[in-house]
Amino acid sequence: MSRILLAAGAGALTFVALFAPPVELFAPQPAVLSRPAADFGSVAQQRVAPQQVMYVQPEPVQQQSQSQDFGSALGYGAMGFGVALAAASFFMPEAGKERRIAMFATTAESPLIMDTSKAPKPWLKFKDELMKTASAIASPGKGILASDESTGTCMSRLKDIGMEGTVEEQRGYRQMLYSTPGLSEHISGAIMFEKTLYESNDAGVPFVKLLGDQGILAGIKVDKGLKKIDGTNDGETWTAGLDDLKERCAKYYEQGARFAKWRNVVYITDSTPSDAAILDCVTTLAQYAATCQSEGLVPIVEPEVSLDGDHDIETCKEVTRRVWKMQYEVLQQYGVLMEGMLFKPAMIVPGADAPKESAQKVAKYTLDVMKETVPPTMAGITFLSGGQSEEEATLHIQAMAEYMPDAPWNVSFSFARALQSSVLKTWGGKKENEQKAQEMLRAICQVNGLAQMGKYTGELAARGHPSTTGSLYEKGYQY
Ligand code: 13P
Repeated sequence: MSRILLAAGAGALTFVALFAPPVELFAPQPAVLSRPAADFGSVAQQRVAPQQVMYVQPEPVQQQSQSQDFGSALGYGAMGFGVALAAASFFMPEAGKERRIAMFATTAESPLIMDTSKAPKPWLKFKDELMKTASAIASPGKGILASDESTGTCMSRLKDIGMEGTVEEQRGYRQMLYSTPGLSEHISGAIMFEKTLYESNDAGVPFVKLLGDQGILAGIKVDKGLKKIDGTNDGETWTAGLDDLKERCAKYYEQGARFAKWRNVVYITDSTPSDAAILDCVTTLAQYAATCQSEGLVPIVEPEVSLDGDHDIETCKEVTRRVWKMQYEVLQQYGVLMEGMLFKPAMIVPGADAPKESAQKVAKYTLDVMKETVPPTMAGITFLSGGQSEEEATLHIQAMAEYMPDAPWNVSFSFARALQSSVLKTWGGKKENEQKAQEMLRAICQVNGLAQMGKYTGELAARGHPSTTGSLYEKGYQY
């Protein structure tokens, strides 16, 4: 552990040397918050918003209007507004040395919101739209259906259920997912692989329209996969795709995408993550996020701390804290608009080869570190499932809602494996199973949507999770 702390300290110092902005950046100025305080509603209302229920709890429901969705989603930033202003002004003293160190302090008084008045403003052209898109995705009771498996990964998923995995079968699978009746009750966005963004259903309706007609926003995975960092320990990775990203984002926006996703991964071993891997991870993600915002796409920033390994939850906490803290500092240095982005981290859990911890402990560790490192102005946190079982992932979302019902950010899900695994199993690639598979998807989305509001509890939870699969962990998983 002390090695990790030492490495964390070294990493922070390296980072300060490389990235600390000029002293003038911290000259006393009002903190820049792009959402007026009047936009924020009470946080408590988020958890009691009326919602539709189906499948798990079939009973008459109240319809929630789109404007209610938008209005209430904006509420999450309220709690941190005053704190952020106080912190921002407190950490703008005269002495340059103190100013720089304050950037890396991990105390409760740490300035989570930096003065970005001299940072680039990549969001200038699309600011209002970005904020609206991010708020709509981070609606209460909703999450993201991550269905952006690469052609290779999707093929192997389909092979697992006895299909060939052809491109046409992959299109058919996505068609089944996106035409699930009632999908939008608990899903606000769907992430697609590039090819899928340009595909249509059998009737020729583009997937983007099929989703859009249900009020589901289309997202696109824009990173081009993991590459090895030469000479690093234990095969650490960087991610390709920045070179032509701006042009690609413009094209994706034109095709109807409104948000994007980029996944970077750091691994915990005795000798990793290296400072280089963390620096590369957070910087690439900040550059990607700024580029997306300049083209009107809400970036999902995903610095995944991998589940691989036998480390304990304390080690995961230390590494995660370091990654998240650096991530938000660099994001702000690149001028990324917090209210126009989403954060997609892994939950703080022990490694897959270590004994598990309770959902309550996972929730506490995850949200405590989040409070230390993630600005309250963020539109939403949409966790990945990372190899957790479908039930575990839901229970963790529920535990987080219970642990911090007044969290300043919308805490939700953006699961792939933990939403799709039982669906694939139920479907088995057979036309006659399609309706059952869609019902399974609705049910799994519903329990996660309820958990997002802290309502997967009592009699409802006692009925049991709808999923039919166990552990979904695969070492070295590539998306
Ligand atoms: P999992 O939920 O399977 O970890 O997927 C995460 C992801 O990044 C998909 O977009």
